[in-house]
Amino acid sequence: MNTVNEKILVLDFGGQYNQLIARRVRDNNVFAEIKPYTVPLDEIKDGNYKGIIFTGGPNSVYDPESPHYDKAILDLGVPVLGICYGCQLISFMRGGVVQTAESGEYGKIDIEVDSNDSVLFRDIPDSVVWMSHTDRISEVPEGFIVSAHSDNCPVAAMENRAENIYAVQFHPEVTHTEYGKKLLSNFIFDVCGCKGDWEMESFIDNTVKSLREKIGDKRVVLGLSGGVDSSVAAALLSKAVGNHLTCVFVDQGLMRKDEGDFVEKTFTSLFDMKFVRVNCSNEFLSKLKGVIDPEDKRRVIGTEFYKVFWEKVREESEGGFFAQGTIYPDCIESGKGEADKIKTHHNRVKMPDDIKFDGVIEPLKDLFKDEVRRVGELLGIPRELVWRQPFPGPGLGVRIIGEITKEKIQILQEADAVFREEIKKSGIESELSQYFAVLPDVRTVGVMGDHRTYEHLVAIRAVTTDDFMTADFARIPYDILASVSNRIINECPHVNRVVYDLTSKPPGTVEWE
Ligand code: XMP
Repeated sequence: MNTVNEKILVLDFGGQYNQLIARRVRDNNVFAEIKPYTVPLDEIKDGNYKGIIFTGGPNSVYDPESPHYDKAILDLGVPVLGICYGCQLISFMRGGVVQTAESGEYGKIDIEVDSNDSVLFRDIPDSVVWMSHTDRISEVPEGFIVSAHSDNCPVAAMENRAENIYAVQFHPEVTHTEYGKKLLSNFIFDVCGCKGDWEMESFIDNTVKSLREKIGDKRVVLGLSGGVDSSVAAALLSKAVGNHLTCVFVDQGLMRKDEGDFVEKTFTSLFDMKFVRVNCSNEFLSKLKGVIDPEDKRRVIGTEFYKVFWEKVREESEGGFFAQGTIYPDCIESGKGEADKIKTHHNRVKMPDDIKFDGVIEPLKDLFKDEVRRVGELLGIPRELVWRQPFPGPGLGVRIIGEITKEKIQILQEADAVFREEIKKSGIESELSQYFAVLPDVRTVGVMGDHRTYEHLVAIRAVTTDDFMTADFARIPYDILASVSNRIINECPHVNRVVYDLTSKPPGTVEWE
């Protein structure tokens, strides 16, 4: 499905900011695509890119193990911008000199712009940039001029105007670089000549058009989980092919309070499609009877889920296509090598061999999460779904410690619903990345009225994080925690104590199991 007019290639040499660079380009309404440095030159030629950005990377250009690229890429006539390692690589490829400096530059550094008619530095004064390097260019290659320097770095930027090759030692993509946004937009518009017509509205129109062409009068089946990605994929497919779409929604009874009904109501009332809900909480509970070990629990829930799901797909399938809500970060092949590659694809579902479709459709495979949310909003999906916080595949199953029972699910659903209501009321919801209740397998003694109680302990967890790889516990004000605790104990039967989880990640994880 080709829905894009102009594209910038982000050629990944293993730097940590590759996705951020692509995001920044897209902020200018120009599509950016990330490829590993191992991509063949012919594929780049065929891509008709308006510009190419070389990312940073952890290596030294003289290290034989470091990622290099075919020098011919600089002769394609496509404008190039090298960033950090990418800048040194351009110098190396064109015969400049790169040296390891006595002291590196890390953090905010002042640069002076040396060239007042550089297109890349148009309207950019001497300013602060973000540097992170030990190696530096000491001599620029033939045909290049120095366009900026710092005290410690004689070549903070260089350019070859005749060939449209630009390079900066600093990171324009991070917010600490004062004029980073401006520099990238100068490259995109003034050097590459992009128009900037890639917008979510046109993405929707083009995608709907190409989905219609591809699907024709065949059918499409989509697994809907109620998460952001599959919900937006469902809405987009519904707009394209209406009731040719069948959404299979497996409710294993481990969702949050009333969530299954909410998902069903949303999709059956707002969108044209065939909605198939499979209620199988009793089957799940019987499979989970006596299962206590967290990994066993995950395995049972995962295996059972796909068993039920594929059985339903077999029943519902009338040929045609299988759709998935895969998004861009699930598809990017890393420039760091094979080990990462396996991990980045984990969200794609493997189909049993006996199920045959004409093809797989992934309408969101080019979008980042925030772009997916924007598409969801434009398609009219309720905010509650579009801005839904992450929810683990095994659902409440990993928030109930010990054996999972119907009673424990109900207690946890009630406590979790109260916690979420109070957070919404308090106005701090947008400051939290994820927040939920947990039911540890613990009972404690309490007193209610004149009676001794011996009831459940509920733990509440709230974290802040950018990427969920590390996280900190949220500093929720005590008075909000007090209302949550009061309400849970008063309103949720069989709970007599509430504790707040003060663990960051690491050493803890976000979920308890
Ligand atoms: P942890 O507990 O590993 O969680 O710190 C990090 C983030 O991942 C979510 N999570 C999952 N998401 N399937 C998912 O789709 C899972 O099995 C799963 N386990 C954890 C978790 O909620 C948090 O956002």
